[in-house]
Amino acid sequence: MTRRRTLIVAGNWKMNMTCAETVNYLSKLLYSLEILNNLPEVIIFPPFTAIRSAHTFLSNEKNGSIIKIGAQNMHWEEKGAFTGEISPLMLKELGVTHVILGHSERRHIFGETDEVIIRKIDSAIRHEIKPVICVGETLEEREEGKTEDVLERQLLEALRSMKSLDYRDFIIAYEPVWAIGTGVSASPEQAEDACRFIRALVGSVFDPEFAKNVRILYGGSVSPENFREFIIEPDIDGGLVGTASLSPEKFFELIRIAVANGEQ
Ligand code: PGA
Repeated sequence: MTRRRTLIVAGNWKMNMTCAETVNYLSKLLYSLEILNNLPEVIIFPPFTAIRSAHTFLSNEKNGSIIKIGAQNMHWEEKGAFTGEISPLMLKELGVTHVILGHSERRHIFGETDEVIIRKIDSAIRHEIKPVICVGETLEEREEGKTEDVLERQLLEALRSMKSLDYRDFIIAYEPVWAIGTGVSASPEQAEDACRFIRALVGSVFDPEFAKNVRILYGGSVSPENFREFIIEPDIDGGLVGTASLSPEKFFELIRIAVANGEQ
């Protein structure tokens, strides 16, 4: 089997890691990555306060560019009276290339709506920051058989909006809410079904040929023990990893698994 899409291993650190811890982590990770070739795309998403340390450290290392830096969230305006918010311009200045938008913790704990998320996606695109758009159902929605309805509701308008901007460089992460941070991942079949559905949705808005190139990640209790089972599925192109990404050893292991299952 030839995989046509480059795998992604993305670490969402959430509200963890000080600046000192970030530099320590990255020096360990970079050192261990030296033994690998044909790396997948590796992206870390530190908290805002550690982005500058991460960027400075990686810019000064010979092979630092193999790790990309993303933000976990962003406001849609460039500046203004938005206490506590961070703008796309501020992120660009720090070398941020990606931004997670619509993470379930933003939707459920901080009340972000689909409308707000679309505004943020539009803004990210206009500022040339690649959106990693997260979607996923709650346990109740799954049990009521509404998984596909939820994915469609969360994604359709965002896809139409990107189509209208003629923008195609996005990443989607399927993250069932019930699997995030619980230690109970979706089964590879459940994740594949959802990712296949998402790919078809992308195809219906853009075109099926383009949909074959879009990267769709699975997220929710990914670990070195289960990662391979996900990435051998045809529609899953990597992982958005929370808890396991906090350990440089485990994150390295995930990258190693991606290398072993990438080019086949
Ligand atoms: P988890 O988090 O790996 O700890 O389940 C995933 C995420 O929220 O992106």
